[in-house]
Amino acid sequence: PGKPAPAPKGLDFQAVAANREDELVVPPGYQSNVVIRWGDPVLPGAPTFDFDNQTAAAQAKQFGFNNDFCGLVPFGHDRWLMGSNHEYTTESAMFRGYNAADPTDEQIKIGWTGHGFSVVVVEREHRTGKLVPKLDRRYNRRITVQTEFEFAGPAAGSRFLRTNADKTGRKVFGTFGNCAGGVTPWGTILSGEENFNGYFANGEAVTDPAAQARVARYGTPKGASLRKWERLDPRFDLSKDPNEFNRHGWVVEIDPLEPDAKPVKHTALGRFKHEGATIQIARDGRVVAYLGDDERFDYVYKFVSKERFAPGSSKRARAHNKTLLHEGTLYVAKFTGDSPAAEIGTGTLPADGQFDGSGQWIPLVSGDRSHVEGFTAEEVYVFTRLAADKVGATKMDRPEDVQPNPVTGRVYAALTNNTDRGKPGKEGPTEINPRNGNRHGHVLEWEENRGDHTATAFAWRLLLVCGDPATSDTYFGGYDKTQVSPISCPDNLAFDRYGNLWISTDGNALGSNDGLFAVPTTGANRGQVKQFLTVPLGAETCGPVIEDDFVLVSVQHPGELDGASADNPLTHWPDGGTSQPRPSVAQVWKPGRRVGC
Ligand code: FEO
Ligand code: CA
Ligand code: CA
Ligand code: CA
Repeated sequence: PGKPAPAPKGLDFQAVAANREDELVVPPGYQSNVVIRWGDPVLPGAPTFDFDNQTAAAQAKQFGFNNDFCGLVPFGHDRWLMGSNHEYTTESAMFRGYNAADPTDEQIKIGWTGHGFSVVVVEREHRTGKLVPKLDRRYNRRITVQTEFEFAGPAAGSRFLRTNADKTGRKVFGTFGNCAGGVTPWGTILSGEENFNGYFANGEAVTDPAAQARVARYGTPKGASLRKWERLDPRFDLSKDPNEFNRHGWVVEIDPLEPDAKPVKHTALGRFKHEGATIQIARDGRVVAYLGDDERFDYVYKFVSKERFAPGSSKRARAHNKTLLHEGTLYVAKFTGDSPAAEIGTGTLPADGQFDGSGQWIPLVSGDRSHVEGFTAEEVYVFTRLAADKVGATKMDRPEDVQPNPVTGRVYAALTNNTDRGKPGKEGPTEINPRNGNRHGHVLEWEENRGDHTATAFAWRLLLVCGDPATSDTYFGGYDKTQVSPISCPDNLAFDRYGNLWISTDGNALGSNDGLFAVPTTGANRGQVKQFLTVPLGAETCGPVIEDDFVLVSVQHPGELDGASADNPLTHWPDGGTSQPRPSVAQVWKPGRRVGC
């Protein structure tokens, strides 16, 4: 084994070993604390959480279920507005004796209020270093399945967005299935509506062939839905209202600094199973949103605004910046490899030593102008996946977070896994998705031409091919594989101030708990993956926030294990004893020192 290089800047913690603990495990010398958990009060007057006496009214004032993305918007000294989305509810873990075939009306409504988004003022306690949530009357906020949003951008008002309840196609209630997101340079939060299709019922009732194909490309929901929402609200029933389906699958923008502002769904960013959206200001001031569509064999996108970013935090600059995602050009990525096809899918690196090549951003639509034959602009926005199919975009292994490196300008995408690659009738390995039955995923890096984020061409290479470093089909940026932490199923990405990439995982296929990892992207330590923490049994790690002196992670669905339910909880994090597991935001820090410094 080679001698490990000295610890890179920001990463001098001792790596956490893979484990199966029902604990949040952090490096020696670090502390952790639960900032907020499901059911904790968000709005003044919220009742104390009572697992056995839940109501929708109480949940509407409490922190929702299964928080995924987490973002901090600075709000004074040692004070932030913390935004968390609530991706989905797991009723069998929320209610004892839950009858999935026939939930009560109240359980359905608790599901509605358990979804959505929370904004909470958090302050750092000087004495302890802990982040503490505050019951702020003005800024704390809950957004649920019943909160009004408005559509913005070119497809607002489209005939595809008009429903029985909203003839204008501009007003829509709720956000759900929200996965990752991003804090914008103007202090708002973007959140991606991902697995929205599963909330709908009776998709087979759509029989018009064109409409049927448009539903099918997003996954036709057949029969009754999992949570039976259609029983109390017909908009979730495709046999009664075929267009409500089209009103979900967007990037939403929430302005925590203006609690009275209506949240927005951005049509200009297209409609797919949006993982998230991260913003980069290009050299000429236009803003670029990087976007992933998290489904097997789906695509990576980017949006380039028409207008330019206005610096500063004046009311006027903010108002302008909040219109930047209203108009621009939406592109989809095409990746080409540079090694012979015969060298791909062999389980080892191609002869040139890299999975790499060139890429192209194919324009789909600009403002009201479609670039895709046979599609109007409105059709590209609302049925983006079908338009991207038409132009020959590259089918990827589940694009999750896409994140630009603030130090180098290179862009990174987590391709979480795709066990269908190479199955009969499915596409086999290509240089960019080089493994059949890809269980562990990979991390992609690219550099836009001339380092310009608005460019339409780029060079790419894989930074990591994840899995057990002892196996020949993994790659750790060229680093000595005996000196790295095993990593599987990368999902969310974030950067620290030094340009180290932080990766959280979902569904570790190596059998250990999920975790948060850090890896240098440049220099002698490029590819040296180190595990920073592991989350409790059954949980996924998401929403990492990497500040100079603390880290936040969302501990999503702790205890989500085979055979587990509220009647038989197999884990008890965070409260221990015989308590029910509760999704939470956790903070990790090193007392008296900046993280990693
Ligand atoms: Fe909700 Fe794409 O993970
Ligand atoms: Ca190559
Ligand atoms: Ca995710
Ligand atoms: Ca996930």
